[in-house]
Amino acid sequence: MTRPLLDIHRLRLCDQKADNALRVRDVSFSVAAGSSLGIVGESGSGKSLTLRALIGCLPRGVILAGGDIWLNGEHVVQAGCEAIKKRSSHFGLVFQNPAGALDPLMRVGKQIAGIHRATTGDGWPKSMAAAVELIRQVGIDDPERRARAYPHQLSGGQCQRIVLAIALAKKPQILLCDEPTTALDTATQTQIIELINTIRQQQNIAVIFVSHDLSVVSQLCEHICVMCEGEIVESGRTETVINHPRHPYAKALTGAQLLLQGDWV
Ligand SMILES: Nc1ncnc2c1ncn2[C@@H]1O[C@H](COP(=O)(O)OP(=O)(O)OP(=O)(O)O)[C@@H](O)[C@H]1O
Ligand SMILES: [Mg+2]
Repeated sequence: MTRPLLDIHRLRLCDQKADNALRVRDVSFSVAAGSSLGIVGESGSGKSLTLRALIGCLPRGVILAGGDIWLNGEHVVQAGCEAIKKRSSHFGLVFQNPAGALDPLMRVGKQIAGIHRATTGDGWPKSMAAAVELIRQVGIDDPERRARAYPHQLSGGQCQRIVLAIALAKKPQILLCDEPTTALDTATQTQIIELINTIRQQQNIAVIFVSHDLSVVSQLCEHICVMCEGEIVESGRTETVINHPRHPYAKALTGAQLLLQGDWV
């Protein structure tokens, strides 16, 4: 059997400021190169903390209380700061609020070029050319001109595409997406999801896509984990989880989705 790219086994995170209450409990999943995993669950179920543990960026007071993480077969969970930094370079990040992820005072092309430069060691002219190419790749028209724009001169959807371009400039093996389309209208949401899917297939980048919205996750992901109160209560192939949910929370989630889609008529 081929080794997964990322393997998480019984990850436990606790909150030291709340009597070491477990916020993430025995979470396990694995991700193969180029695959797509959705993590879905209600607010506060531990989705974001799980992603943050992967990049060694937990909030103050939340600590790793147990579990193992393997990346490319390397056991990284008890690694020191340097190894965590090295590990985080394997991940590209796309989070909910694109405006918050961009520097408002720097032209977007330069923001992308800066990451390309840090990743590859290329000089500025080559990095700027790479940035323009990345802007083209994420589907923004007239990339030479757009590269000179500041974030406030772009729409929310265009800003999220720029965030994606910055994530790709790191040449990641895994793209971590935490509610990346929540702040966008439905049509733009669909375009961004299709773009992420195309990039995943073309570049063989694995995607972990977090959302509270099952329909969004099911458009993109082959496999789903359903989280509830810090635990994965159900996991499997997307169509199996949606059509044959077993856990009461997964049943409630899929039932609510069917109601929204009007399948109850
Ligand atoms: N900085 C923090 N310090 C302490 N506890 C936290 C912190 N951030 C989150 N938590 C707690 O950890 C639990 C999981 O939070 P998390 O942010 O992972 O939820 P989530 O599933 O991403 O929710 P949402 O869908 O609202 O983004 C919650 O009980 C939350 O209150
Ligand atoms: Mg969250």
